[in-house]
Amino acid sequence: MRKQFLSPKLHLSSLPTPLEALKNLQAELGLELYIKRDDLTSVGGGGNKVRKLEFLLADALACGARTLLTIGALQSNHCRQTALLGAKLNLEVHLVLMGEMPDSRQGNLFLDHLAGAHIHFTGKERGEGQAYLERLFEESKQKGLEPYVIPYGGSNELGVQGYIAAWLELEEQAKEKGLEFDFVVLPASSGGTIAGILIGQALTGSHTTSIGISVGPSKGELEREIIELAQRTIKKLNIQVPIPDFWLLDEFIGPGYGILDQETQEAIKVMARKEGLLLDPVYTGKAFKGLLALARRKEIKGRMLFWHTGGIPGLYAYASIF
Ligand SMILES: Cc1ncc(COP(=O)(O)O)c(C=O)c1O
Repeated sequence: MRKQFLSPKLHLSSLPTPLEALKNLQAELGLELYIKRDDLTSVGGGGNKVRKLEFLLADALACGARTLLTIGALQSNHCRQTALLGAKLNLEVHLVLMGEMPDSRQGNLFLDHLAGAHIHFTGKERGEGQAYLERLFEESKQKGLEPYVIPYGGSNELGVQGYIAAWLELEEQAKEKGLEFDFVVLPASSGGTIAGILIGQALTGSHTTSIGISVGPSKGELEREIIELAQRTIKKLNIQVPIPDFWLLDEFIGPGYGILDQETQEAIKVMARKEGLLLDPVYTGKAFKGLLALARRKEIKGRMLFWHTGGIPGLYAYASIF
């Protein structure tokens, strides 16, 4: 499918990312299971946000930005990728991180520092962080720093397009291999990744059911956000497609966002020990825990795709818990 209807993007990562069979897990679990390796987007330490940032940063440069401002959790992958890609583009990067400065810099926080980002720690509440970000934007503007704000998770009408393009990429790869998936399973937090996949599916007339595994927000709240985000993106692109039905599950969050439970540890170990692949505790570990549970309960069957969205640097911040 032609992609000319999408907004301009930078080509920062070498795409496509691989589509692979998980052969050992297939044998062990009796599932037909594949993985899309977006942990291998080739810049910024890898992960899903690179695809979103290719669109967002094209807009930032077109607007004449010299400074990037964004917001996230202490171990935000989105902030780490923004810090590294901003560095590559010679842009100053300010990260508003929600939480207290920890005693030592681990995982993504270490990489933010390595990339030379300016880090602002705020209160834990999203509202507090957002208010701080808005103040920082005004101050930066007054200082003539030409700031550009990238929203939480890179999820707006531009960021979402990264995953419309990703779905089109996957469809081409799947067609070459003669594959059609019954289900695609992925983590969901700010909702932009799954929103893009849903639009891509509508555009290609796909019969695959998307399953978003929430890693924090409640089902009602996140479902609403995903649909609104997809609608806003469809409007911006001036296309007419219905948003396909999807599943959004919040039963695998466990004790809370970023809190590692026993089942998530098991899911991460299974992937490492059977396939030699790394998952992270906050996003992909929880999504894979969800996939395993749904398959064991026979709520999903057929040919499945697990979309690996990256996040591996965060794993190292949790080493002492395993
Ligand atoms: C590794 C990883 N996977 C998945 C997600 C969720 O993506 P989205 O915020 O687009 O729902 C994130 C978001 O930060 C992430 O860092």
